[in-house]
Amino acid sequence: MQLTGPLTSQNSGPLAGAASAPGDKSISHRALIFSAMAAGRSEITGLLDGEDVLRTAAAMRALGAAVERDGPVWRIGGGAWKSPDKALYFGNSGTGARLVMGAVAGAGVAARFDGDASLRSRPMGRVIEPLRMMGLSATAADGRLPVAIDAGAPLAAIDCKLAQPSAQVKSAIILAALGAQGITCIHEPVRSRDHTERLLAVFGVELRFDADGAGGRYIFVPGGQSLSPSRLAVPGDPSSAAFLVAAALITPNSDVTVRNVSVNPLRAGFYETLRDMGANTVFENPREECGEPVADIRARHSVLHGCAVPAERAPSMIDEYPILAAVASCAAGETKMTGLEELRVKESDRIAAMEAGLAACGVDVASGPDWLRVIGDGTPPKGGADVKARHDHRIAMSFLVLGLAAKNPVAIDDVSMIATSFPDFLPVMTKLGAAIS
Ligand code: S3P
Repeated sequence: MQLTGPLTSQNSGPLAGAASAPGDKSISHRALIFSAMAAGRSEITGLLDGEDVLRTAAAMRALGAAVERDGPVWRIGGGAWKSPDKALYFGNSGTGARLVMGAVAGAGVAARFDGDASLRSRPMGRVIEPLRMMGLSATAADGRLPVAIDAGAPLAAIDCKLAQPSAQVKSAIILAALGAQGITCIHEPVRSRDHTERLLAVFGVELRFDADGAGGRYIFVPGGQSLSPSRLAVPGDPSSAAFLVAAALITPNSDVTVRNVSVNPLRAGFYETLRDMGANTVFENPREECGEPVADIRARHSVLHGCAVPAERAPSMIDEYPILAAVASCAAGETKMTGLEELRVKESDRIAAMEAGLAACGVDVASGPDWLRVIGDGTPPKGGADVKARHDHRIAMSFLVLGLAAKNPVAIDDVSMIATSFPDFLPVMTKLGAAIS
């Protein structure tokens, strides 16, 4: 079944069995970009076959890399980049656009960047400004796409402090700094996902780290480094696995195992929160893949209670608040999520999207500029609503999952964006026993 148009999910029997989460989206973008930067042939398996990642693959091709796909194996011939003739188009993908801006700046080539209406509305100044401090010449009207980066003299190292705990901004600066003269120092007061740091080590890059004594760290990036080609197996995405785990937790008598998921502590805040809510989830068979801790996650239907989700946890579960809010509507008592200001500038304003959708499903929900509060009575909500996905894959999947437990079906107006991160969402869910049509 194609992921287009509307879909409805309804109260389902138990979900059971094992499924694989799609390849991690963050690591997939990085695997392609780093392979295209490394002189020689790299090989990637497990890459996410989602639209966002395919756009990054196309951008790497336009920048001069040889990108071939043989079934599940991607072979990338990387090395020196060239200025592409046409604008690089990133569709809905903030990660692709922002990371490639940094890499293009470091490579010293010119490129233009564009995306869909949602991506055009998202802030790009947070990446462009530090790159300008390094000497980059770029135009970005109103700090948004379209962005044009000029080819120019090599960049100079900078000392900077990240204003937001954003792995995209941090990664863009690291990638630019690899091509700069001198040692760049990035202070991240609040730590965000570290896939760039971990995966660059796999490509032979040396970074140094120093704790700042207050929970953050300094990252030192010596410039003038080149990457060595590598062979990688991308682990499954904990943000996509979250939908399968959540579905099992709220659907009576369910028992689901999601195989081969990255359980990087800087991505695992959702799973920590679920444990605080009384969820029966276990990380089984822990191992390492791609420089990342990996496990199989087993989730069984659970009696859940609300909890306070601390603001400090936000960077490690930033993409999971929509599905957490759906789970919280089935739990007993109040779940208060704070420190959510970044949710306002994701693929949609996710605080507004969840509040509107949950209210339509009969949930007691309230929000403020950077918080969301959901109160449940320990049984699934009424449902029976038409919910707007607002062009956001995680909003669409969150409400399809909620519909499996809600008392009445939940309809989503448009599910096409799910293909950006979880193209097999529907067959995977259906195989586990979900009634979505
Ligand atoms: C990502 C970082 C996060 C996250 C996004 C992927 C990444 O964004 O929301 O889905 O791969 O670096 P920010 O860096 O803007 O917080």
